[in-house]
Amino acid sequence: MTDSSQLEAQGRSLSGKVVVVTGGAGDLGRSILERLERAGAVAVGCDVVAGPGVEQCDVTDRESLDRMVASVVERHGALHAMVAGAGVVERAAAIDLEPSSWSRVIGINLTGAFHAAQSAARAMGDDGGSIVFIGSWIGSAPARDLMSYCVSKAGLDMMARCLALELAPRKVRVNVVAPGVVEAGVSAQIFREAPERRSAMEAVIPLGRLAAPDDVSSCVEFLLSERSSYVTGASLVVDGGIRLAHAGG
Ligand SMILES: NC(=O)c1ccc[n+]([C@@H]2O[C@H](COP(=O)([O-])OP(=O)(O)OC[C@H]3O[C@@H](n4cnc5c(N)ncnc54)[C@H](O)[C@@H]3O)[C@@H](O)[C@H]2O)c1
Repeated sequence: MTDSSQLEAQGRSLSGKVVVVTGGAGDLGRSILERLERAGAVAVGCDVVAGPGVEQCDVTDRESLDRMVASVVERHGALHAMVAGAGVVERAAAIDLEPSSWSRVIGINLTGAFHAAQSAARAMGDDGGSIVFIGSWIGSAPARDLMSYCVSKAGLDMMARCLALELAPRKVRVNVVAPGVVEAGVSAQIFREAPERRSAMEAVIPLGRLAAPDDVSSCVEFLLSERSSYVTGASLVVDGGIRLAHAGG
């Protein structure tokens, strides 16, 4: 057995890997941090909201992100992976969407992910690394009142493919995990406030349930681990099949 398959067998697919997770204080971010730690990684969160294991850092502020990445490398000796999960949603009909709202969503979801990816790629050593963007199933299906969000997530798909092409010679893989409707963040809040919307949503999801955060985190772990060592420029949709049944809207 090779070293990596021994680690897999022990359930420690990320032993010794140093990973930064942006949006680490959020529902999905916390789940990803826990999952990566269970897999043996040193996982450091960063978020505008600090907390246990999560350091204060704004992904729209490039200097703050570069400082954070440099400090992780200094403290832990390397950076092997970056998960760009910081994201916000603002709802408005396209015709009424304020330019400031558009800029905020694109600034955090897309430009923030660019900052995270570039900063990480520059800090990664000769052994390369893995970058994962948290996209969304509505990055490839239009949804009403969510144009800025849909465009930001669609942009992540293309950014991952461009980066995958350019960073392959440096042995850096770049992929997207595109969740469906997760019991997390804004979605969880909507379903708490309006339980009838949960059953309506479950009725259109072919697998019959919302995603638990760990459904998504397990795919992030896969894309950071050696099990996916030949996967780059891919988008892994984790949506219970909703895109097959629902055209967005
Ligand atoms: N919940 C869902 O159904 C769902 C579905 C598909 C994709 N996603 C994506 O998953 C990711 C996590 O979402 P979540 O549901 O856990 O929401 P969440 O609101 O719980 O987490 C998002 C986190 O991003 C942080 N953040 C916002 N602006 C930031 C900035 N400028 N710098 C650093 N951090 C910042 C927030 O403080 C928050 O902790 C997002 O990218 C979201 O778009 C969520």
